[in-house]
Amino acid sequence: MDTWKFYNIIHREHLVCNPISEEKLTRLVELLSLPTDAQVVDIACGKGEFLIRLAETYSARGTGIDISPFYIADAEKRLETLTSAAGITFTQMNGADFRPDEPHKFDLASCIGASWIFGGHSGTLEALIRMAKPGGWVIVGEPYWLQEPSKEYLEASGVAREDFGSHFSNAEAGERQGLDLVHTIVSSKDDRDTYEGLQWYVTAEYARTHPDDPDLLELVERVEKARATYLRWGRDTIGWAIYMFRSRPAAYQTNEHKPE
Ligand SMILES: C[S@@+](CC[C@H](N)C(=O)[O-])C[C@H]1O[C@@H](n2cnc3c(N)ncnc32)[C@H](O)[C@@H]1O
Repeated sequence: MDTWKFYNIIHREHLVCNPISEEKLTRLVELLSLPTDAQVVDIACGKGEFLIRLAETYSARGTGIDISPFYIADAEKRLETLTSAAGITFTQMNGADFRPDEPHKFDLASCIGASWIFGGHSGTLEALIRMAKPGGWVIVGEPYWLQEPSKEYLEASGVAREDFGSHFSNAEAGERQGLDLVHTIVSSKDDRDTYEGLQWYVTAEYARTHPDDPDLLELVERVEKARATYLRWGRDTIGWAIYMFRSRPAAYQTNEHKPE
């Protein structure tokens, strides 16, 4: 089954394809307090909700990058209905290939829930630091271990122990790269249940309404396996948070962390 078709179906009811509630997304946008006309980039922007809110709240201008043709089409469709987001564009491409026309260009650079693009959490921070202005925001969403994962969970989920760190090590990774951790927005169990549960809900609905889809069996099997893995182990094993870092203004950067 085509990967992006799969994710397009299971995230049909999701405004944001991550375990963050709408209330927390609103808080994130408010806390950013961006200057008017801020320049922003969101790598793995999904359906573009975060960028659209930045445009609506701050008249932000910039670009969203995502590899899924389905999400980019959804994001562009939303844009057509919004005059307030005229400065935003969406591009379908691999985020790893994105090169801004100049370094340290953006008031905000984000990658919320797709750190594999840059080889993990530290690589993502490094890439975003190169995009953000001194004093600009570096925003990442990343899982973390709530407890030591069992062998059974790792086997069932296909996740490796070293893929993720702890909440503390996620925060520390930014500090090590010269960022200030300003705030965290941590998903509750309810946020994670909602994110996972909506996938089961849409899959059941899709199966009812698309009985002739040749991918249906694979879709249902994958979602059922993920559901069992989540309920049995994942719910108590893995958490998720958005880390709000700020690149240090030049005035108090150490030489080691000064932008090139
Ligand atoms: C967990 S979702 C998060 C989406 C979005 N940040 C949000 O919070 O709604 C992961 C996103 O990464 C995108 N993605 C996966 N691999 C990618 C890549 N190599 N380059 C760009 N986007 C990618 C997927 O299409 C998906 O939209």
